[in-house]
Amino acid sequence: MEWVVKRSDAWINSVLLAAFTVCAAFLHVPPVGAADKKDVQDMFHTSDRCVACHNMLKDSKGNDISIGLDWSASIMANSARDPYWQGSLRRETLDHPEVSDDIQDECSTCHMPMQHLMDRAAGRKTAVFARLPLSNEHLHNAAAKDGVSCSVCHQIESDHLGSKASFNGNVTVASLEDLRNRPEYGPFLVDAGHKQVMQSSTAGFVPTQAAHMRDAGLCGSCHTLYTVARGAGGKDVGQLAEQMPYLEWLHSDYKDRQTCQDCHMPPVSGAVPVTALYGPPREGMHLHVFVGGNFLMERIFEEHASELAVEAQPRELQDAVKRAEEFMRRESARVTLSRLTKTDDGVAFDVTVDNLTGHKLPTAYPSRRAWLHVTVRDAGGNLVFESGALRPDGSIEGNDNDADAKKFEPHYTEITRPDEVEIFEPILKGPQGEVTTGLLTAVGYLKDNRILPSGFDKATAVPDIAVAGRAAQDPNFTGGSARVRYSVKAAGAGPFQITAELWYQPVGYRWAHNLAAYKAAEPERFVRYYEEQSANSALVVASAQGSLNE
Ligand code: HEC
Ligand code: HEC
Ligand code: HEC
Ligand code: HEC
Ligand code: HEC
Repeated sequence: MEWVVKRSDAWINSVLLAAFTVCAAFLHVPPVGAADKKDVQDMFHTSDRCVACHNMLKDSKGNDISIGLDWSASIMANSARDPYWQGSLRRETLDHPEVSDDIQDECSTCHMPMQHLMDRAAGRKTAVFARLPLSNEHLHNAAAKDGVSCSVCHQIESDHLGSKASFNGNVTVASLEDLRNRPEYGPFLVDAGHKQVMQSSTAGFVPTQAAHMRDAGLCGSCHTLYTVARGAGGKDVGQLAEQMPYLEWLHSDYKDRQTCQDCHMPPVSGAVPVTALYGPPREGMHLHVFVGGNFLMERIFEEHASELAVEAQPRELQDAVKRAEEFMRRESARVTLSRLTKTDDGVAFDVTVDNLTGHKLPTAYPSRRAWLHVTVRDAGGNLVFESGALRPDGSIEGNDNDADAKKFEPHYTEITRPDEVEIFEPILKGPQGEVTTGLLTAVGYLKDNRILPSGFDKATAVPDIAVAGRAAQDPNFTGGSARVRYSVKAAGAGPFQITAELWYQPVGYRWAHNLAAYKAAEPERFVRYYEEQSANSALVVASAQGSLNE
């Protein structure tokens, strides 16, 4: 169908209306209650069935705000095509071959949710590798490929949201009893006529108002992940609180201020229609950009779109890369310099990083890291001190973990040498206390000094979101910010110029390169992509400068 076009013109709209009227007349809509309970493939529709009416939208200034286009380039729309996910899943099944079927089923829960929920309803496990490679052919594994699609999120029931029963992607969707009359929940009250338009065209989905669509617990379902560590023979040997942005948010003062949706789905100003067909103007629409920090994966999607079966258009993918980079620069952190003093043999100063997000910075997937790159230059502009430079291969100069997989860089209260780097990151711990990047090997954290959100009291945090390592005792590591003292040697003559930058990298060097040991197509492909991007795999998200006279 040629309905998926970017710029809406009045004539296209009228052709559409006519086309819809004709189509609707011929649609076969079986009577309510006629559905077979086992008819699981009708539980969901893929996004191509929704975007027809939910694209071609503009705000009052004429900016395109099409729901389908924005969503299609988001990380969630591509969660099954994600080559890092596929590579990491392969690694886990090679590490724990006895439970490969269970692992594929588990990892598909949130990354391939439509396929997973249909398989679950039919009483079978989801076999991911049998569906790979995904291809660009329209109907090829359509539900698997469509990732976190429209009709998954919008069919989630309010049951248990925000509580443990809903975590790990354990959402409830409408029962199979009445496939011709299934709610698609949204924030607005829709009248009978408009309901009918959508229900008849989608053969059963009814737009239905429900407050839980604006609840952070909706996102908390898939964005709270506990993984089970596997020992010999695939036996359970422990548990890792792997991704906790929702619990972090609950322990911050954002829980009374801003939801996940408020920051990740920016509001549209003014009243706008939310459908291209007969839509009344609506106050309080939110963009489906789901913007986050993973500019690296957005770039990989753009550059390898056909190999990865990405359907979003190049223009949307380029916008998504830019949007993520701007989001990081504008909304993630602030860096300040203070207490600059001259010492006998150099300079000393404090670097403070404020976290502006609603959870730890970084949060969620443990490959994310942020760190301080600090330089001191003398009056002649010569570099007299440097800590934390990014190398072209994506590693950080001086970071023990990048140099040796068995080691890691501790949290610092004071940095005195160039080979000491302040890195805000989680380091996973295996059953023997070893450093690991195996999700299903890890049983806890050796280090977690990700910067805490405002209002987060580390003394009262439950173990799942606790600070781990030296930062736990550091009085300058508190809710909302982290402060580090630099006391460094600086030869040469002042005035000295000091620069402190906060860098962010979605996938750290060690996380990518540990996959190189696995001789299988998916891990090898991801390592190749990473190497192509490594020199640009990190971004300066905030910085501060100061000078010390004398
Ligand atoms: C409860 C839902 C859920 C389950 C189950 C799940 N994931 Fe994820 N996964 C996520 C979310 C949410 C993110 C994104 C978080 C972020 O961006 O930091 C993610 C991100 C990832 C990433 C990083 C992708 C990138 O582009 O950087 C990898 C790799 C990954 N998951 C692997 C796995 C593997 C392997 C399994 C099975 C052991 C698994 N996931 C199971 C929710 C889930
Ligand atoms: C990750 C979950 C998620 C996915 C995927 C998703 N939505 Fe939404 N959608 C939401 C939430 C949450 C809201 C309510 C936002 C608010 O008002 O705070 C919403 C709102 C809407 C609205 C009301 C107008 C608006 O934008 O506020 C429409 C229409 C809609 N979605 C359609 C779609 C379509 C079509 C798709 C697929 C192309 C889609 N959604 C994908 C979560 C999702
Ligand atoms: C034939 C056109 C059409 C199709 C196809 C269509 N919708 Fe809609 N949708 C509408 C109309 C009309 C409304 C009501 C808009 C209003 O009243 O503002 C709507 C509203 C919505 C809302 C908002 C509900 C609320 O109460 O806030 C959601 C969510 C939604 N649609 C999701 C979907 C999903 C998911 C699909 C694909 C399974 C889909 N739509 C397919 C026409 C359509
Ligand atoms: C059905 C499960 C599911 C639900 C519900 C869900 N997400 Fe996600 N989300 C995912 C998965 C899976 C990923 C990771 C995809 C990947 O990295 O491959 C993800 C990734 C993200 C990202 C990361 C983008 C980036 O650049 O790093 C953001 C932001 C996000 N989701 C926001 C939300 C918000 C806001 C909501 C609630 C409205 C929500 N999600 C609900 C499964 C879900
Ligand atoms: C005050 C605004 C704000 C709120 C509230 C907020 N976030 Fe974020 N979030 C951000 C910013 C900014 C980033 C980018 C910096 C980063 O990666 O930590 C981000 C990043 C993320 C990421 C991606 C991290 C990555 O790997 O790139 C996920 C996933 C996420 N948020 C989920 C959530 C969920 C779930 C909630 C609600 C429980 C939420 N956020 C609430 C601002 C917010």
